[in-house]
Amino acid sequence: MSALNDLNLLDPGFAACPYQAYATLLKEAPVFRMPQNGAYVVSRYDLVMEAVKNTKLFSNRIPNHETSTHGGSNAVAELYAKAGYRRWNPLLGTDPPDHTYYRSLVDRFFTAGRCRDMRPKIEGIAGELVDEIAVRGEAEFVGDFALKLPVYIIADMLGVPRSDIHLFREWSEASLPTGMNVGLDVELSNAARVIEFFLYMDKMILDRRKHPGDDILSSLALGRDKNGEFLEMSGLLGILLEILVAGNETVKDTLATGMIRMIDDPAIVESLRTCDERTLRVFADELVRLECPVQGTYRWVTQDTELGGVKLVKGAMVNLRWAAANRDPAEFPDPERLDPTRRNPGAHVGFGIGEHYCLGASLAREELQAGLRALATGLNGFRYAAPDAKQEYLPNFIVRSLRALPIRFERRR
Ligand code: HEM
Repeated sequence: MSALNDLNLLDPGFAACPYQAYATLLKEAPVFRMPQNGAYVVSRYDLVMEAVKNTKLFSNRIPNHETSTHGGSNAVAELYAKAGYRRWNPLLGTDPPDHTYYRSLVDRFFTAGRCRDMRPKIEGIAGELVDEIAVRGEAEFVGDFALKLPVYIIADMLGVPRSDIHLFREWSEASLPTGMNVGLDVELSNAARVIEFFLYMDKMILDRRKHPGDDILSSLALGRDKNGEFLEMSGLLGILLEILVAGNETVKDTLATGMIRMIDDPAIVESLRTCDERTLRVFADELVRLECPVQGTYRWVTQDTELGGVKLVKGAMVNLRWAAANRDPAEFPDPERLDPTRRNPGAHVGFGIGEHYCLGASLAREELQAGLRALATGLNGFRYAAPDAKQEYLPNFIVRSLRALPIRFERRR
């Protein structure tokens, strides 16, 4: 019997160990219909490329998107409405030309050049965080380092005071799409947290309209629609939420899996200490390719079509499985290996590709490089604080997110 019959990618435990299943899909069913919800998982690199480039046929404007990713039952929508908001994703949930317009409001804050200029600041924060944990000799790596680095940086970019940063962690987690049914109670309590975030940012946006600066919030606050009106508040808040979640959770997850690799293979730590800038960058990209915090995202089929010989009818949901495509041996020889000399390190789709290519890819690269280098140069002897404890991942089909990682180490300098 084929291993395909046993696959349940929507099982809450799937995120812990998805890679054997991807290898099976790549070999046996590169466009695979999940029996549990009827959606198709696309794993082969060339097919993911084919779909992602055709935004007319494979659309991001998913009807009832909120229902499929945030629960979004009537009760949840009512909670938002009562607070005067609507939850939607102006970046991830639209196609060109609308999408192009929303991106234009924020793109210039995330260019490679601007992020390169932020390098000393990012390195400074990474160094401070290493110093904070160095004296203790142990840390819960996810909360004490991996999340703090991107949150501090995005909070600075948005002008949020450090004293409020702890709220960002809660908001960011509460707004994660799960891609699976987590129950109405959880959805309602998550929505309540997101509303807190909306209320917080709503005030800041109104303030920027009175006192604008050269920052993301001001650009959003002053953006006008076709009729010359300020953009709808829920849309602006939606963009901020997308930046917050997409930015914090992903970098955190990549750093956490990076730490696991550093513990399991101390030679990596040694290389990170001494390697040149280019190799450091390849390390970071290889981590994103292999660990892929955003494992796969959905598109909606707008007309009957065919992909990889499989018929797809209008209305079908397709999950582009970035994490599987990144291990396609036809594109990446010896795909399971973290290879700092890889010939095509930037060809991975860990940051997506096409119209929705990750807004924060350059920022993420800077954060990952600074974070990895600071850890390797500042600390030594990484090991698990609880070697026998099971590593637990969030039950989530979209992202792969380690809940906690207690570690021990020594100070190096
Ligand atoms: C290792 C870190 C990161 C990874 C692996 C990652 C991955 C991705 C992927 C795969 C997509 C495309 C989703 C799709 O096409 O359906 C995406 C989009 C996006 N990312 Fe990232 N991301 C990372 C870091 C960041 C950071 C630091 C930010 C911002 C501060 C950010 C903001 C966004 C936004 C706003 C989008 C939506 C873009 C759009 O729809 O136009 N990401 N990211």
